[in-house]
Amino acid sequence: MAPQSLAGRRVLVSAGPTREALDPVRYLTNRSSGKMGYALAAEAAARGATVTLVSGPTALTTPLGVQRLDVTSAAELAQAVLELAPQQDAVVMTAAVADFRPVNVATHKLGKEQLGEQPTLTLTRTVDVLAALGAARGAGRSLPQPLLIGFAAETGIDEARVLGKLAAKQCDLLVVNDVSRTDAGFDADDNRVVIYDAAGARQALPLLPKREVAGRVLERLVELLAARCSAVPADG
Ligand code: CTP
Repeated sequence: MAPQSLAGRRVLVSAGPTREALDPVRYLTNRSSGKMGYALAAEAAARGATVTLVSGPTALTTPLGVQRLDVTSAAELAQAVLELAPQQDAVVMTAAVADFRPVNVATHKLGKEQLGEQPTLTLTRTVDVLAALGAARGAGRSLPQPLLIGFAAETGIDEARVLGKLAAKQCDLLVVNDVSRTDAGFDADDNRVVIYDAAGARQALPLLPKREVAGRVLERLVELLAARCSAVPADG
């Protein structure tokens, strides 16, 4: 049995892709399978946490002991995560949230005649959930705020870009994987990640099953939670 190192902790994990509708039969999405997020939710629950899994559309089974909330679009995911985040000890954002959505969503299926030969899609930005949580934390330092763990899917790891993302999202850990490799990342059962802390220090892990990657990430979370507790002054 896993050590109960997260007993009494509340952890929210987001997982899977989002779907951004164009019309009732078409949507924009991405290749996320949700496997990494589901592995994290399962592992956090096995370590004693109360886990809420906010999941985009996936083909996966809800892990034992995990409460799952299904969402479809980036807007639905943002609403669920931002509402639940203040009650959590940690928020782990493995979801591959769409960065853009179509400005117009047709209520009827768009036909070829209507669209013409070279139709143009106009997109607009979605809310960056992780960055919003990071920014909110900066604004309300006296409130208890969850620790934030981000995931970044990169095609080739460019350290300067990763450090920029870490700063932009203001998260405590950023777990980076190179999705251009075929043995790890999207839909694979294994993953090879580098964990960056808020100061930019890196810990490279070998190729491991996603459940073991989850365990290693959660070990870092347990350390951060313990450090935060010991940093709170005795009078509150
Ligand atoms: N993320 C989020 N909300 C978004 C987009 C991303 O919360 N609208 C979170 C993801 O869940 C992930 C982290 O931000 O934890 C990094 O996502 P990634 O797609 O790698 O980074 P982006 O910020 O989208 O940057 P870019 O597309 O420029 O690589």
